Amino acid sequence: MADDLLRPLTLGNVRLPNNLVLSPMAGFSDLPFRVLCRQHGAGLVCSEMVSATSVLREVPHTLQRMKTLEAETPMSIQLFGTDFDAVRQAAADLDKRCAIVGFNMGCPAHQIQRQGCGAAMLDTPELALRMVEAVQEGTDKPLLVKIRLGNRERRDSVAFVRALEAAGAAGVIVHGRTAAMGYSGRSDWEEIARIKAAVGIPVIGNGDVVDGPSAERALRTGVDGLALGRATLGNPRVFREIAHFLATGERLPPASAQERLEDFEAYVAMAAAVGVDAVQVREQAQQFTRGLRGGADLRRGFTGNVPLGEILARFRAFATGPRNDPLPSENIVTARL
Ligand SMILES: Cc1cc2nc3c(=O)[nH]c(=O)nc-3n(C[C@H](O)[C@H](O)[C@H](O)COP(=O)(O)O)c2cc1C
Repeated sequence: MADDLLRPLTLGNVRLPNNLVLSPMAGFSDLPFRVLCRQHGAGLVCSEMVSATSVLREVPHTLQRMKTLEAETPMSIQLFGTDFDAVRQAAADLDKRCAIVGFNMGCPAHQIQRQGCGAAMLDTPELALRMVEAVQEGTDKPLLVKIRLGNRERRDSVAFVRALEAAGAAGVIVHGRTAAMGYSGRSDWEEIARIKAAVGIPVIGNGDVVDGPSAERALRTGVDGLALGRATLGNPRVFREIAHFLATGERLPPASAQERLEDFEAYVAMAAAVGVDAVQVREQAQQFTRGLRGGADLRRGFTGNVPLGEILARFRAFATGPRNDPLPSENIVTARL
């Protein structure tokens, strides 16, 4: 059916196999998770955001977040920062590590905004545009800027994205909410479509895409691609489900407990190999059991100091037991809000 909706996407000189993107997610879009998403069909995966100054100071957990593997290339590392020199130098560092440099202008978190970063940059468009120039002084790699529709209130995003394009951004990810909205209300796909219609660079729409039908509706607005965040958590197979739906109009059944377990086991093995810390692995364990009937009870057995081996044993027993079928995908996302 709508097979032209799923298509390659080009950002600058980088051609991506398809237009489904794993959105950057602090605490979750780590290396093993990104590899899983690529294996299940994401065309591009984005790292958790890293601060420009931490890149330069070579802070250990920042270096960890910037690790990549061939299996996920081409990938994007997302920077944030307000210091032009730091951003320029950090971009030069990223030049060696990834195919696409991301820049965050959408994070609503207070501790990020307090530094003038994330969505706070939307309040100072001139500064934001100078930041885009600073990134490009550091690297020739395509720049993918991620924005919301405003910080405390809506701004003229069409004008802003036109200015980002003129400043040299290779593409934008637009989350169709203001930062003040957090995750309340709905992502405004009409506004995202208006932005798309007004610029020549690829516009990747973002917000509330959870499955094949919502992906089809979003792509029909005319955007070049989709970025998925929460719906991927613990469920990297959502990319496969969406690609299948776009190609055939058929919905695959949601991932079973056994499939979620297989993905988590693969995650754990890679996490051990690349050094993801135990706290993060535990957080991911919570996600891999969400949306499964009986998953909440299982997760209660993951808290405290339960060793990872025990978490895996409980998950395995659960996956082979009765009444662990997946809930409908809408319920999964509601549960994650
Ligand atoms: C736990 C979490 C962490 C996130 N971290 C980042 C981040 O580091 N950088 C960023 O640009 N957006 C971040 N986001 C926002 C997502 O990339 C995405 O824009 C948002 O979740 C809306 O998409 P969705 O409805 O598909 O979840 C984060 C979202 C979540 C839920």
